[in-house]
Amino acid sequence: MAGVEGLEAGPHAIFGPVAADLEKIEAGLRRLIESDPDVVAAPMTDLFAAGGKRIRPALVLLAARCGSYDLETLTPAAMAVELIHAATLVHDDVIDRAQVRRGRPTVAAKLGDEAAIVVGDFYFAKAYEQAAFTDSPEVVAILARAVMDICAGEVRQQAIRHRYDTDVDEYMRRIEAKTATLLAACCDIGALLGGLDRPKRSAIRAYGRLLGLAFQIADDVLDYESSEDEIGKPIGHDIAEGFATLPLMMALEDDGVGGKLRQLLQTHRELTEAEAHRVVELVRASDGPTRAIERARQLASEARRELETLGDGEAQASLATLATYVVSRKL
Ligand code: IPE
Ligand code: IPE
Ligand code: MG
Ligand code: MG
Repeated sequence: MAGVEGLEAGPHAIFGPVAADLEKIEAGLRRLIESDPDVVAAPMTDLFAAGGKRIRPALVLLAARCGSYDLETLTPAAMAVELIHAATLVHDDVIDRAQVRRGRPTVAAKLGDEAAIVVGDFYFAKAYEQAAFTDSPEVVAILARAVMDICAGEVRQQAIRHRYDTDVDEYMRRIEAKTATLLAACCDIGALLGGLDRPKRSAIRAYGRLLGLAFQIADDVLDYESSEDEIGKPIGHDIAEGFATLPLMMALEDDGVGGKLRQLLQTHRELTEAEAHRVVELVRASDGPTRAIERARQLASEARRELETLGDGEAQASLATLATYVVSRKL
């Protein structure tokens, strides 16, 4: 099992029992994309070459590893979830007007929003094609439902853009839709293809959901606390784009900075660069990020508890370590 060393080295050291197979999936994905027309393949090749943690295909493999594991059947499913993820990132960077992803210009920054939308669409379609190669209509349906949830979440998020007084319940619903459903779906698909029985399958799906919630909270804290060098995407971007996230919501409850923050956020319009910068400073000076991470840690520990249903094994141990990693991660 990967220990603390694994956590420091990043997710790949944690994927232990499936690390070698993930390399094969990575190579397969690259070959698959290379076979596409150059106009769509070039930006995707670049996005894949720039890195990424590959948590979603790892979840598919690790979940299956808790049951019976057949790499050939799992490969198109693992490819499908990473393609879905990549497509959502391409679209997300249009919506969030993000210029940098994985340390490189986003597809939208390079090709324009119009092209980025179609490139994203292409890879959603390609993901469903791969899902169909599993010969399981249920896999396709699980993925389709996850994407429907992500889209509904993104639309809801647009409706509250520049509304800085939304509450934690709304936030949890938002991150459930946009992030947790896909991680839950990855676990569900792995469990289905690995032939896990019903109770085990629902436990691992519940694990994926809780992991996803913790994962997105950590992402939202990194947006305040990290640096562009470290995470390869701009810092303070969420509030600059009009999205209130958990560290800010918790900072608003901090006696020291709450009043100042409320004053800055009275408006229902886009903040100026200077205002957004000030919000980031205030949130950093508050206990908001620490409290948000504490919430993520609780969710990660609930996720680990779900694994008890799955018994012992290397894959279960990796999944448990992954839950610790997503909260402590720097990337
Ligand atoms: C980024 O996901 C989008 C979120 C759901 C926060 P990841 O942090 O998994 O992105 P990569 O694939 O590692 O770049
Ligand atoms: C994740 O949220 C959105 C997706 C579901 C793709 P973010 O907007 O926080 O993701 P990053 O920070 O751009 O990676
Ligand atoms: Mg974004
Ligand atoms: Mg983010």
